[in-house]
Amino acid sequence: MTADAPSLPDSAAAPPRRGIRSFVVRAGRMTEAQTRALAELGPRWIVPYAEAAVDWPQVFGRDAPRVLEIGFGMGDATAEIAAAQPQTDFIGVEVHPPGIGALLQRIDAAALTNLRIIQHDAVPVLQHMIAPHSLAGLHIYFPDPWPKKRHHKRRLIQPEFVRLAASRLRHGGYLHCATDWQPYAEHMLDVLGAEPALRNTTGDYAPRPAWRPVSKFERRGLRLGHGVWDLVFTAR
Ligand SMILES: C[S@@+](CC[C@H](N)C(=O)[O-])C[C@H]1O[C@@H](n2cnc3c(N)ncnc32)[C@H](O)[C@@H]1O
Repeated sequence: MTADAPSLPDSAAAPPRRGIRSFVVRAGRMTEAQTRALAELGPRWIVPYAEAAVDWPQVFGRDAPRVLEIGFGMGDATAEIAAAQPQTDFIGVEVHPPGIGALLQRIDAAALTNLRIIQHDAVPVLQHMIAPHSLAGLHIYFPDPWPKKRHHKRRLIQPEFVRLAASRLRHGGYLHCATDWQPYAEHMLDVLGAEPALRNTTGDYAPRPAWRPVSKFERRGLRLGHGVWDLVFTAR
């Protein structure tokens, strides 16, 4: 059965699927090197999606603070952060195959041991593979802004998602979002501010932390003259 098959009545649908997703997987062109990285490095650094909790200390070979990133794109900022923070373990979640190939190449080139990849929708990943109150941090950098009103429902930052994300943070763990789309920044401020399990570290937008590198998508926005808004909340 393909994903486009006629939908079944709810009672027959197993497992339940989210109807609206925050991404569209485009058949983006893979370079030869990205294709090779997926085949040769994927088995070493990609943790297969499963509807089961993962023993992360076993995966990383140590029990260090863990930070999960949703939508790393081409992985440039992700690899840079992981290299700069060797004491922390990072889990990057992305659905875009060329980006996954590109990050695998970076992991290999920089000999990073504190970074793993999950190639799947981050929502079920958080639900199934990440235990409640287990993350030291969650990074969501330049999520697709879905600027058209009829697409707003696709935005990742929604009350239900934020409740799930907050539940995966340990006490004092942080949720760091950044966007170059002002209406989305305002929406984030409203939705994150309304989640009782989170506390805004500044009461407003946050200064950009010096350790957050400029990502590929951000650079594009800056070229177009966009501003950038960071938001940092912590779990109560
Ligand atoms: C606009 S790009 C930004 C990429 C990167 N963070 C950057 O700043 O360059 C957003 C990325 O999020 C990914 N994405 C969106 N929703 C996702 C989800 N639910 N799970 C995993 N990845 C997702 C998309 O595939 C896309 O690569």
